[in-house]
Amino acid sequence: MSDGVILQVKKFVFSSPINRSGTNDVDSLEILIPEQLQASYSSYTWPSAPVLAWFLWEHRFELPGKHIVELGSGTALPGILAAKCGATVTLTESAILPKSLQHVKRCCEVNGLQSNQVRVIGLTWGLFLANTFSLGPIDLIIGSDCFYEPSVFEDIIVTVTFLLENNPQARFLSAYQERSADWSIEHLLHKWNLRCEHIPLNSLGASSGIDINELMQDHTIHLLEITRA
Ligand SMILES: C[S@@+](CC[C@H](N)C(=O)[O-])C[C@H]1O[C@@H](n2cnc3c(N)ncnc32)[C@H](O)[C@@H]1O
Repeated sequence: MSDGVILQVKKFVFSSPINRSGTNDVDSLEILIPEQLQASYSSYTWPSAPVLAWFLWEHRFELPGKHIVELGSGTALPGILAAKCGATVTLTESAILPKSLQHVKRCCEVNGLQSNQVRVIGLTWGLFLANTFSLGPIDLIIGSDCFYEPSVFEDIIVTVTFLLENNPQARFLSAYQERSADWSIEHLLHKWNLRCEHIPLNSLGASSGIDINELMQDHTIHLLEITRA
């Protein structure tokens, strides 16, 4: 029980064989995510999050020393995984949703993350308040299921454009669940001078025995890499 709301705790296990001849060793990480049963958008782990987290897990040796910013973190599975793998992570949530920000902090605490590994701040897409300017150098921006509703598409793109302009070497990895074939960010990418590549997901998790279709839970999930054009 927390804040009068019943929580369930989901366990996510990331495990891969270590490529060392003659051994059966595995590299493994367990992440616990508390979820509120009366789920709001931010207190439930959406199906894109484990997909993005698995992608980061498969690139975990590139993460130590990197500063990663997660947008619209919600329960923050990908960002927490990145912090556990050695990145310094800034988890962000809408600044006007204090309960959601509190929930992100709770997710960090449950996983034993310390203040030198992760910080949680309010950052509302399309709004340029003090926090947006105090992020410092960024190597990677991540977001899971941020493109969930067309009314927020341009706000996200504007924020990402600002962050990429200040960090030209950075990229935005965005996993999203296809909800309507009519929705598109193509015109916004063009308008804001951004480039987008689809990262193929068909072999994600294969070397760890993960079935990508099971991971996607019958949803169509895409992973985009967005950079400056
Ligand atoms: C569909 S949920 C995805 C949550 C989480 N990333 C996941 O995949 O499980 C969308 C998230 O974006 C956040 N959000 C919505 N509008 C926002 C805004 N204008 N600025 C920042 N975050 C926002 C919500 O609070 C929520 O956490």
